[in-house]
Amino acid sequence: MQNLVDKAKHKHSLLKSEIVEILKDDSINDYLFKSADEIRKEFSGDEVHLRALIEFSNICRCDCKYCGIRRDNQKVERYRLEKDEILKLADFASSSGYKTIVLQSGEDMFFTADYLAEIITEIKKLDVALTLSIGERSYEEYKVLKEAGADRFLLRIETTDENLYKKMHPGMSLENRKRCLYDLKNLGYETGTGSLVGLPEQTIESLAEDILFYKELNADMIGIGPLIVHPETPLKDKKNGDLILAIKVLALTRLLLPDINIPATTAMETLHPQGRIMALKAGANVIMPNVTFEKCRKNYEIYPDKVSVDYSKLETDLKQIGRTISKKHGFRGNSDCPLT
Ligand code: 5AD
Repeated sequence: MQNLVDKAKHKHSLLKSEIVEILKDDSINDYLFKSADEIRKEFSGDEVHLRALIEFSNICRCDCKYCGIRRDNQKVERYRLEKDEILKLADFASSSGYKTIVLQSGEDMFFTADYLAEIITEIKKLDVALTLSIGERSYEEYKVLKEAGADRFLLRIETTDENLYKKMHPGMSLENRKRCLYDLKNLGYETGTGSLVGLPEQTIESLAEDILFYKELNADMIGIGPLIVHPETPLKDKKNGDLILAIKVLALTRLLLPDINIPATTAMETLHPQGRIMALKAGANVIMPNVTFEKCRKNYEIYPDKVSVDYSKLETDLKQIGRTISKKHGFRGNSDCPLT
């Protein structure tokens, strides 16, 4: 089994059957995590990039079975920030030292591409990279946003299992999801995707396919998180995802895509107090603190008990594991500007 991990480490490639073998065998976990940590150090260094997350609208046209802000959840108080409020948050984040602003929302069509472009143009006057996480749009809309100055885009594939994808995402298709991701890549965005680990009926084989998909897309960023069951969703009686399995998927992703950016996701820390640190020691190099107004945060409840980042605790924790907070923009490969 160690040989398989070594192969991943040196060749950055594995067969599906090999990924499955590693995911199924927990005796190899420490070696896997240590190897991913070494590759992270070699390709991305010891800097951790912080991305300031602004959750600017929780209004969503989608009805994803697992998500707390799904369309059909009537218990959520919906909000939509004004342009000025978004700019104020971006300004605050930039003057606090953040070098990346992430604009995230539900699929809220009030924010047309043209309107978002105005916001992006303003934010790009600050010395920041700008990431969008606003869901599925057309090629033309993605193009307008890119031309306005957006640098990166996050759109998780969630699962590459076509049947499971259909079950979890009413009215949506895996095919269109992939179309979006390839459009984003072709338009020159640094493109991020990733999976939810622990969806009901998800197989280890399909997680292996997910990892191979990241590689096929040549994703620039991968966000992996365990499912956290939300009580106001159709999945309310299901089990949470397995944190260790999620970290294994993360570690394998690091081995196969050595120079990409990988966040230690909030969902990991929500499941376990050490979850974020465990991820940082198994291949992750990014953290995404939320800078949204306190009054909105409680309504952006994708899953329950979402934790926030305590900045001074974070600094101490990072120091303890030999890591520093980056002052760079943190493009792929720890670079300060995007690859062209
Ligand atoms: N538990 C964990 N992660 C979730 N997401 C949505 N709902 C949940 C949940 N219940 C993740 C999805 C989405 C990202 C923004 O949040 O993967 O892409």
